[in-house]
Amino acid sequence: MRSIWYMGEKMRVLVTGGAGYIGSHTCVELLAEGHDICIVDSFCNASPEVINRLEEITAVRPEVHRVDVRDRAKMMAVMARYKPEAVIHFAGLKAVGESSQIPLNYYDVNVQGTVVLLEAMQAVGCQHIVFSSSATVYGTPHYLPYDEAHPCAPSNVYGHTKHMAEQVLSDWQRANPESAVVLLRYFNPVGAHSSGRIGEDPEGPPNNLMPFVAQVAVGQRERLAVFGDDYDTPDGTGVRDYIHVTDLALAHLGALAHAKKGSGTDTFNIGTGAGYSVLEMIHAFSKASGREIAYTVAPRREGDLPSYYADPSKARAVLGWAAQRGIAEICDSTWAWQSQNPTGYKP
Ligand code: NAD
Ligand code: UD1
Repeated sequence: MRSIWYMGEKMRVLVTGGAGYIGSHTCVELLAEGHDICIVDSFCNASPEVINRLEEITAVRPEVHRVDVRDRAKMMAVMARYKPEAVIHFAGLKAVGESSQIPLNYYDVNVQGTVVLLEAMQAVGCQHIVFSSSATVYGTPHYLPYDEAHPCAPSNVYGHTKHMAEQVLSDWQRANPESAVVLLRYFNPVGAHSSGRIGEDPEGPPNNLMPFVAQVAVGQRERLAVFGDDYDTPDGTGVRDYIHVTDLALAHLGALAHAKKGSGTDTFNIGTGAGYSVLEMIHAFSKASGREIAYTVAPRREGDLPSYYADPSKARAVLGWAAQRGIAEICDSTWAWQSQNPTGYKP
């Protein structure tokens, strides 16, 4: 499938948030396809060690600028110097709980950061952008699987900022008819690069299931709290659509090629279409790691939905992309990353 996406055209791609979890995996795939990349990252949630690891995996040391996307003058300067043909915009804040405690930071980074980025793109005539959105924009499901036509009614601040950024991008596109915006709504990104050299490295106790499970397996945390076993799901625990980060990274190559082909705004769900429960994930991880995952059942987490998963058929039909990696590969790669880097990028 990869050969369909890469249509012989090498691009100069500016990657905001390229040192982060999803950004770093996407940079590996961009470099593997022969694109030229320039990373813009404030490193507020990333380690500089990521850049060494990227070089180790790809044998290319990418251009990197430690810049905050909200810094208009610096963004203008980077754009003027690098002159990208396309941008992939990962930079943002992503913790749902934190977003309700410091909402203004979330609006500032996720919405205003996107405005400044577009201004800087406009200044150099860059007309193609792929944006990291989230399934969280849909809110409580009216039906499942969610398709892209499902109404958007996010129920948390983080979701509001992602939905607003989507609106900013599509309004900008309408005002610039030659431009192309691709909005990718990720489901639950998990897993790590097959080399075990890059992966997810959350600061402090992980909010998300898989990094928590991995830290229990490696002995960094005693036990996992399973948030609720009384949902109306097959085993009572929450069901999600877990997408391997390498599959997710490859979706960005498809999105870039799509953006280059035409103009307009297009939105795609990036998920597998299959839902797995918390207990299924624990058991799969236990099998991959050969370790017991100790857990206790705790009350439901406020704001959690019982179950959701993607209808990814539009991405398959239009981008020629579909997830190739299943739960076993997700757990194996997470375990390879976590066991080889028990403290993440920290020494
Ligand atoms: P991440 O925190 O690992 O990566 C984000 C990167 O952006 C980090 O390297 C961080 O240092 C950088 N950054 C943050 N604020 C910045 C700023 N103001 N200026 C410049 N750089 C800044 O997160 P991730 O999981 O890789 O997520 C990437 C994107 O995907 C985010 O926009 C996130 O909202 C979105 N997303 C993530 C998930 C998920 O579960 N991981 C799900 C849906 C959508
Ligand atoms: C969360 C965010 C969502 C974001 C997504 C991916 C919320 C309400 N939603 O989704 O906006 O796009 O992360 O980053 O935070 N679980 C446990 N114990 C844990 C952690 C999680 O049982 O310690 C359960 C949850 O209840 C859920 C499942 O595991 O059923 C997945 O949780 P998580 O990884 O946090 O992702 P989401 O809640 O789907």
